[in-house]
Parts: sequence; structure tokens; C-alpha cells
Amino acid sequence: MPNTFALIFLILAILSYFSSKKQKRKPKQKAMLPPGSMGWPYIGETLQLYSQNPNEFFAKKQKRYGEIFKTHILGCPCVMLANPEAARFVLVTQAHLFKPTYPKSKEKMIGPSALFFHQGDYHTRLRKLVQSSLSPEAIRKLIPDIEDIAISAMESWASDQVINTFNEMKKFAFEVGILSVFGHLDGKYREELKEKYCIVDKGYNSFPTNFPGTAYSKAIMARKRLTQVLSEIICERKEKRLLEKDLLGHLLNFKDERGQALAEDQIADNIIGVLFAAQDTTASVLTWVVKYLHDDKKLLEAVKAEQTAIHESNDRGNRPLTWAQTRNMPLTHRVILESLRMASIISFTFREAVIDVEYEGYIIPKGWKVMPLFRNIHHNPEFFPDPKHFDPSRFEVAPKPSTFMPFGNGVHACPGNELAKLEILILVHHLVTKFRWEVVGSQSGVEYGPFPVPQQGLPAKFWKLSAPKNCESSRS
Ligand code: HEM
Repeated sequence: MPNTFALIFLILAILSYFSSKKQKRKPKQKAMLPPGSMGWPYIGETLQLYSQNPNEFFAKKQKRYGEIFKTHILGCPCVMLANPEAARFVLVTQAHLFKPTYPKSKEKMIGPSALFFHQGDYHTRLRKLVQSSLSPEAIRKLIPDIEDIAISAMESWASDQVINTFNEMKKFAFEVGILSVFGHLDGKYREELKEKYCIVDKGYNSFPTNFPGTAYSKAIMARKRLTQVLSEIICERKEKRLLEKDLLGHLLNFKDERGQALAEDQIADNIIGVLFAAQDTTASVLTWVVKYLHDDKKLLEAVKAEQTAIHESNDRGNRPLTWAQTRNMPLTHRVILESLRMASIISFTFREAVIDVEYEGYIIPKGWKVMPLFRNIHHNPEFFPDPKHFDPSRFEVAPKPSTFMPFGNGVHACPGNELAKLEILILVHHLVTKFRWEVVGSQSGVEYGPFPVPQQGLPAKFWKLSAPKNCESSRS
């Protein structure tokens, strides 16, 4: 009998042990979709997004639902991330769970082999080539040429004509892009690339229909011609056996582990891709820099003083800028960083979940788009106090990790960021030491095309100073 009691006691003890274990092991909570609204069937919230400033759309949503919320735009369910850690999760630590995603029409226009449409081995290989052609060692050699391009661009603006600053900055950024891709390119090729690229650019954001005469179909034709021109350039370079260190040189010299070179269309798509990535981005930021400097006279004077000291030490501009000088323009550099933050010209980016992904108790279903919202993070008062105020001095202290991502983050982060900053520094150096400008009109709005730029591209008049110092012209 005591044995029976002992047995019952033992069984009860075992049962109670396991049942208490079971209770302690919290039942796993099922991950939920993030909060948010999906709008109407099919169209979702696309109309709300496009009927207002997209940044206001995202800001309102963030206020209502928090830093992680769902919506449905452009035919796709999306999860928006306005939180630095969540953006880092998608772009850096778990980047393999999220692939780049672009509309097919855009891929066709740029070229499907361009690196930013890919991930994995192909992307890594191409990215190394692009990165080495844009490394500090490579771009420091471009300084005198970038200076020449900047000065001759600004001289062409210096007349009584009002110019569209953004359009002119696009031309400047394209010339610098050509320089980094091809080095010194024969004028006939440069002109044809410019002309055809301009047609591609106009069609890129138009409605994708192949109906003859539409901007899109013209752009597709021009894109085909661009491939032919690139093929002629490649042929000439091969004939001359030139071993250049520019991007084209890197792409042509590449061999994989099996000795396989890149196909010509892979080279062409990546060249067009880099020119595309380099142009409107840099031009928009340059336009904002010109506006912010124009609007803050005290700041402009301080930037002028910084740049004039360098100009004087270079024998009043008779010697070219050195790499070390471009690395030592602290105030101008902070103006660029603050312009990048304020304008946040790449407001967000897109990825697509390749499997169901769980993040902080939320599920991001496979196939859903994920959008890290750079602008919301850059305008969060917790990270950037008084975020609407243009204040370069905030960059005297480095921002908190993952809160400042004007060039993205992780495996697809911008490989052109040093070149972009270098060309902006060079242009500002010559702008403030040799030229003056006045913004025309009182418009203060923002246009999205798709990057935000001041309304009408910032109409402005530029003029050249006749002497560096005391002849500031009666208009300044
Ligand atoms: C101020 C100017 C620029 C800004 C703000 C900018 C911003 C960005 C951002 C945010 C990304 C990442 C996009 C993503 O993660 O989806 C990116 C990627 C890229 N950028 Fe830039 N960019 C600028 C200038 C340039 C320039 C001058 C070049 C080349 C000469 C360039 C080439 C590229 C390329 C090739 C990629 C794709 C990288 C990859 O997928 O691995 N960018 N850029």
C-alpha cells in the first residue's frame, strides 16, 4: 500500500512538474501584421499617396500607427518602416531576406543586368567593380577635370538669362558621370550619349506603353541606340588595347573564376545604371545646396570665408584643388550633410520579402514590399531636434547609428557617395569664390520628379565676379 501511495505521489509529482513546465513555456504568440489601413480593393491607398505630398502621407501614417505600419500602394501590400533599427534589419543584418524590387518597365529602360536589380553573387561581383572605379584613390585623380567641368558649366549660366538650376545641375552631374565611367571620352560619343540619354530620362517616368510617338516608346528606341553607341566605344577601346582604370576599364578587364568575361549587354546595362543613379540624385542635392546657401546670408558668408581661404592659398585659383583640401572643408561639408538630411531626396527605398519574415512580433509576409522611410527617420525630432530647421551645426556631432542614411545602408548602399560629395564640394568652391547668384521669383514649394526639388527647378541668375575679392559687383 505505501508503495501504491508512493507511486501515485510520484506520478502526480511528474504530472505537476510537466504541467508547471507547460505553463511556464508561454504559448507562442502568433505574429500579427503591423497596424495600418489597406485602403480600397486593388487601388489600396495609391490615390491618397499621390493626391498629396508623399512625405505628408507617410508622416500622417506614422503619427497614427507608429513607426511600423502597413498600407497598400501601386498594387502591392507594403510594410513601411520609419524606425532606424527596422531599416537596418532590412537593409543590413537580414538583407538576404529582402530582394531589390523595381517595376519591370523601369528595369527594361535601364537594363535588366544593372547591379541594383540583383542580389547574391552577381551583385557582389558587379558592385566590387563599380566600387573600385569610385574609390577615393580613383576619384581623387578626377579633381582637375571636375573643376574644369564645374567652371565651364557656371560660365555658361553667367548671363542675364534666368536658368533652371536643376536642369543645369543635371548637365553638370551627367558630365561628371561620363568622366567617371569613360575618363576622357571623344566629343562625338559624348554628344550622342547625352542626346539619347536625355530621351531615355524623359521616358523613364512616363506611362509605359509602346504606342509609337509616346515618351516611353521614344525612350525605348533611344535606349537601344545607347547600347549601340556603347558597343562602338567598347570596340574602339579594345582595338586601341587601352587599359584604363575607369568604370568601363574595370568592366572590360573583369574575368570570373572560370575566366569568363562580362557580356556586352551586362557592361552596357551597368554603365547606363551608374549614369542614371548619378544624375538626378546629385543634381537635386546641388540645387538644394544652392537654395539653402542663398536663403541664409550669414551661412553663405561663412562658407565663402572657408572657400576663399583655400582659393587664396591656391594662388587665387591658379593651382587646382588638392584632395587634401577637399577633405578639409568642414563647414561646406556640414552644409552638404544638412542639405542631404533636409531634402532627403531619396525619401525611401523598396525591397520585397523573399520569405515570411518576423520582426519585433510583426509578420512581413512573403512577397510584400518593405519600405525603409529614410525621410521620416531624418525628420524625427528624437534624432534631429527641430528637424525642419536648416542647421549644419547639428553635424558637428555624428548622428546616432542608422539615423542618417542619405546614401542608403548595407549591401546596396550608394557606391557613388564619395564622388557625389566631391563634385558638390568642388562646385560650391568655385561657385562662392568666382560667382554670385540670385534666386528669381518667390515660390517656395517643392516639386517631385520623382526626387524633391525646389519649385520650377529653382529659377536663378548667375554672374561671374570680375576679380576675386573687392569687385563683388553692385548686385551682391
Ligand atoms: C547625392 C547624390 C546621391 C544620392 C543621395 C544617392 C543615394 C543612393 C541611395 C540611397 C542608394 C541605395 C538605394 C537602395 O538601397 O535601394 C544608392 C545606390 C546607388 N548609387 Fe547612389 N546616390 C547619389 C549619387 C550617386 C553617384 C554619383 C553614383 C555613381 C557615380 C551613384 C551610384 C549608385 C549605384 C550604382 C547604386 C546601386 C548600388 C547597389 O545596388 O549595390 N550614386 N544611391
